[in-house]
Amino acid sequence: MPSTQAAGGRGARTRWHEGSHEGCVERFYSRGVHGKTDIHRGYLNFGLWEDGVEDYVEAAENLVARLGRRAGLGSGSRLLDVGCGFGTQDVYLQRTFGPLEIDGLDVTWGHVERARRRAEQEGVADRVRFHHGSATQLPFADATFSHIIGIEGPVHFQTRRNFFDEALRVLRPEGVMALADYALARPPRNAVERGVFHVARALWRAPAANVCSVDEYRDQLIAAGFRDVSVESIRDLTFPGYYQEQQRPEFQREMERLQGRLLARVGRVINVTANWVYRMGVIDYLLVRAQKPG
Ligand SMILES: C[S@@+](CC[C@H](N)C(=O)[O-])C[C@H]1O[C@@H](n2cnc3c(N)ncnc32)[C@H](O)[C@@H]1O
Repeated sequence: MPSTQAAGGRGARTRWHEGSHEGCVERFYSRGVHGKTDIHRGYLNFGLWEDGVEDYVEAAENLVARLGRRAGLGSGSRLLDVGCGFGTQDVYLQRTFGPLEIDGLDVTWGHVERARRRAEQEGVADRVRFHHGSATQLPFADATFSHIIGIEGPVHFQTRRNFFDEALRVLRPEGVMALADYALARPPRNAVERGVFHVARALWRAPAANVCSVDEYRDQLIAAGFRDVSVESIRDLTFPGYYQEQQRPEFQREMERLQGRLLARVGRVINVTANWVYRMGVIDYLLVRAQKPG
């Protein structure tokens, strides 16, 4: 069943079917969206907290730069960013690896609106465009892109495996996809672990079908038709640093000011639950690279 009711062209807002997974994810990310747009300069990733990184924005940009290098972005690349959030990473990629042609796509309308404004304000709107849509029904012709990146969005897709098919379709031969994503480090071992994991997954709006081990993740990419798949675990350089950032009293006060006490608390519960799952040793954070055959 198609998940959209109406998609009136590239610039338009897509209306999700009542009860669709996309609508559910959009509502999740739309809560307090106007208060969130400029927290952390709009970055929504966990950050890559390597030695020498001193604050969250530096960690977030470190992660984006690492993924850009892993993808092999360079002058002239034609990039699709799936789950682009507020688009901050695309302005950064343009400045760091450009000139690039970038299409960012996100399921949350409020993110797309802010990303478009950001591209205008930063003077890159001629090369960095944003679209409202779903990664599992990409509104692009076959073989459009030389590169795809996705940072922390694929876990939400219905399903990630369907997205792999779409990614392969819109990539050119020899095109490269690089993802920052999650997999199971090991299965939950007992009822408590299973319970915490289930709550974290449900709070995070991640379909059960996307839960898989690192080996299964690799196998899914190969089954979709990708080759030269490489996977690197960076979980110890992501979750703990982000959790500490979320615990900073200044950050918590800022979230309450911008989002109100209730939403700020909901956000804190989600972060605490994610941190539990990490500390139990159940979840892994991966940098993934895969190539479309020539
Ligand atoms: C954790 S945020 C990461 C945003 C951005 N990549 C960043 O790192 O700042 C995940 C993003 O994926 C988007 N998303 C979730 N499901 C999607 C789908 N099916 N298609 C496109 N985007 C989706 C959400 O709206 C959200 O902006």
